[in-house]
Amino acid sequence: MAGNILEVRNLTKSFGGLKAVNDLTFDVKEGELLGIAGPNGSGKSTLFNVMTKIPFGPTGGEVVFGNQRIDRMPPHRIAALGLARTFQKDAEFPDLSARETVALAAVYGRKLSRAGAMAATEEQLHAVQFDPARADMPTTELSVFDRKQLMIASALVMQPRVLMLDEPASGLTRPEITALDALLCKIAASGVTIMLIEHVLSLLLSVAQRLIVLNQGSLLAEGDPQTVIKNPAVVEAYLGGRAA
Ligand SMILES: Nc1ncnc2c1ncn2[C@@H]1O[C@H](COP(=O)(O)OP(=O)(O)OP(=O)(O)O)[C@@H](O)[C@H]1O
Ligand SMILES: [Mg+2]
Repeated sequence: MAGNILEVRNLTKSFGGLKAVNDLTFDVKEGELLGIAGPNGSGKSTLFNVMTKIPFGPTGGEVVFGNQRIDRMPPHRIAALGLARTFQKDAEFPDLSARETVALAAVYGRKLSRAGAMAATEEQLHAVQFDPARADMPTTELSVFDRKQLMIASALVMQPRVLMLDEPASGLTRPEITALDALLCKIAASGVTIMLIEHVLSLLLSVAQRLIVLNQGSLLAEGDPQTVIKNPAVVEAYLGGRAA
């Protein structure tokens, strides 16, 4: 059985009186695709924030990556060790093209030369099947799907060991979600561990080997996705959230 690549221990993030992440403990196994579900406001994005320190760290607890504690490291060191994330709200750099956006990540994240960055950029744009005809368009003119591909390419160009994706399927059409499903399987098959936050349950259930569910910052359920999703406490948390 594969060992743990990440160990999250009693992780907490308080915003004043609100514990957005509340004493959370779980492991991520090397090479797995771990799904992360939970109703709106349950702390999923905050978990990614405090694990990567982008944009802020935890108020308590520990994150161990490989054999090192990373929760006291600055974000650039965490990224250099191999933890890369995408954002729920897709960022855009109005003055940059798609190609330049990925190249920027390669230059700043991996300190590559111009030639090295351009080669790595082409490789990753190709890997995510970004439409070459759109690679020099300003990011502001791209479609939602283009931007999702671009965010994933920008994360992959860092050569992460763990890729953390925050709702990559939001705003996508059915065929685009099918393409995303295939892309995630391809990335996982290349050996990259994936943590996938997603509300689109069909995608989660299709690709995740294990699922954790958060509720009010705490771990509500953990295990085989098909079993976890039928757990009465999980059903209640989702229905309760929808009724609110
Ligand atoms: N910077 C912040 N300052 C204050 N409160 C915050 C901040 N970021 C998040 N929160 C609060 O923390 C809680 C968890 O938010 P978070 O964005 O992590 O949820 P989520 O599970 O990602 O939700 P969604 O599924 O809607 O994306 C929410 O109550 C939110 O309002
Ligand atoms: Mg979120």
